[in-house]
Parts: sequence; structure tokens; C-alpha cells
Amino acid sequence: MALVSGMDVISECTARRQVAGAFNTTNLETTMGIIDAVERVGVPTFIQVAPTNVALSGYEYIYDMVARRLASTSVPVALHLDHGKSLEAVEAALAARFTSIMIDDSEASYEQNVATSTAARAMTPAHIALEAELGSIGGKEDDIGPEHAATTDPAQVPGFVEAVGVDMLAVSVGNVHGVAPHARIDFDLLADVRDASSVPLVVHGGSGLPSEQLGRLAEFGVVKVNVASDLRNAMIRTFGEAWTANNDEASLIRVSKEAVVSIRDVVERRIRVLNPAA
Ligand code: 13P
Repeated sequence: MALVSGMDVISECTARRQVAGAFNTTNLETTMGIIDAVERVGVPTFIQVAPTNVALSGYEYIYDMVARRLASTSVPVALHLDHGKSLEAVEAALAARFTSIMIDDSEASYEQNVATSTAARAMTPAHIALEAELGSIGGKEDDIGPEHAATTDPAQVPGFVEAVGVDMLAVSVGNVHGVAPHARIDFDLLADVRDASSVPLVVHGGSGLPSEQLGRLAEFGVVKVNVASDLRNAMIRTFGEAWTANNDEASLIRVSKEAVVSIRDVVERRIRVLNPAA
């Protein structure tokens, strides 16, 4: 089927009481592994890419690759811009027909974050989902991270959501980007944020969180959970192991197919942990 809007993934997941995984792609193998897993589990999903990873190919290239692979799939999937740090990135993703957008000016002051996110809302048609971040998620992705991480202040949530008109809110409640095995959600804070928010929540940093915590997020108004590092590590590990086993390995296609399977397995496990009944 064709790519669906992020709004459709949100409403479908809300109706089914499911949590959408949001898996970052970079290249063909990652995209194939993600969609192979989605087909096995049948849960609506976001495939996403941040500008740091678009640098390898381009927004149109990512769109074509994802849309082509999805043509033979019946599960609803949206293509999402992850951590759009500028209005230029939002413009480029919309021009390439992405169906869901994140604007991220969360490191700026509250007022500046509202101003940037409001400008992104004005650019983003209502049927395309808009995510913005309040509080600043710590850790690093692709060697990039905030200078100052800060948790989400529940008192700021209603005003931010209303001023911007966001469709989903990314929160900083103990979650950390990147390889962060000791990251833990503060569920008391998450509950306060949920109670203050009229829109569903997004948790970034899915790779570092334990399964036991991921499995509880649906109860806390979370509709989207981002996972990137685990997939990247699965791909790099597959190639590393192949080279370690045989320094003369030259079958790129065989190792690439193995990488697709290892990414598929990581994604399938994550979707099932997020949705134990799926
Ligand atoms: P991880 O790399 O920790 O899974 O985080 C991904 C993410 O939040 C992308 O926005």
C-alpha cells in the first residue's frame, strides 16, 4: 500500500491500543529489515530518518526507497522526519512527500521553541502529523547530542501543546539517545506529563531502555517509540563478524542479506516488546 499519514498511524494505534515503533533508516538494507519485521507483526509503524542520515542519499531517495518497498505491504506505515532541527529540513522533507514531521528546537529557550515549532506547524498541512520536543533528551546520536539535557516540565506542557498545535509531544523523562544501557524512565514524571498533555506522547531513545519499561509505555499515553542505535549496531555487527570470520570475504550480497535478517529480528523483537498482545 501507499505510505499513510502519520495522523493515520497515530489514530490506528490509538484505536488498537498499540504503540508504533519508529525505526530509523539510513539505507536499503535497514529499510528492508524494518519492513520485513512490520509485515510479520502487523503493527502500524513509522519509518524515519534524521537530517544527519539523509546526508548519505537525500530526502527524495529515502522516499522512493521506502515507498517502493511498501508497495507490496498491507500494514500502515508513515515516513517521518526525525529531529528536524531547522525549518529548511522541514521544507525539504515535505517537498519530498514525507508524511510526518518532527521539529526539534528543544535546546533553545521555551519561547524560541514555541516560535520555531509554530512556524513548522504553519508549514505542515493538517493531515501530516507534527511532533515537537519539550525538554531536551540527553545522549548522542551520530555523535550529536544536546549541550544541556533537561527533563520535560509538566507545567509547560498544556501551554506548549496549545500554542503550537502539535499532534504528538516528544518528552524527556529519563530516556537517553544512543547506546545508553543505564537509561531508565521516571514513570512518575511520565504520568504527570501524560496528565498535562492533550496529545499522545513520544519516547525517544528506545535502544537503551529495558524491555520491562518499554512494555509499560502504552499505559502512559505513549503512541510512538523511537529506536535507532540497535538497528545500526545490528548492521555494523553483521559486517564486522563476517570480516572477522574471513578477512577475504567478498560476497557483499550474502553479508547484506544477513544484515537485513539481523535488522529484521531486532525490529520484530522491539515491536513485540512494545505490544505484548501483538
Ligand atoms: P536510540 O538510538 O537510543 O534508539 O534513539 C533513537 C531516537 O530516539 C531517534 O530519534
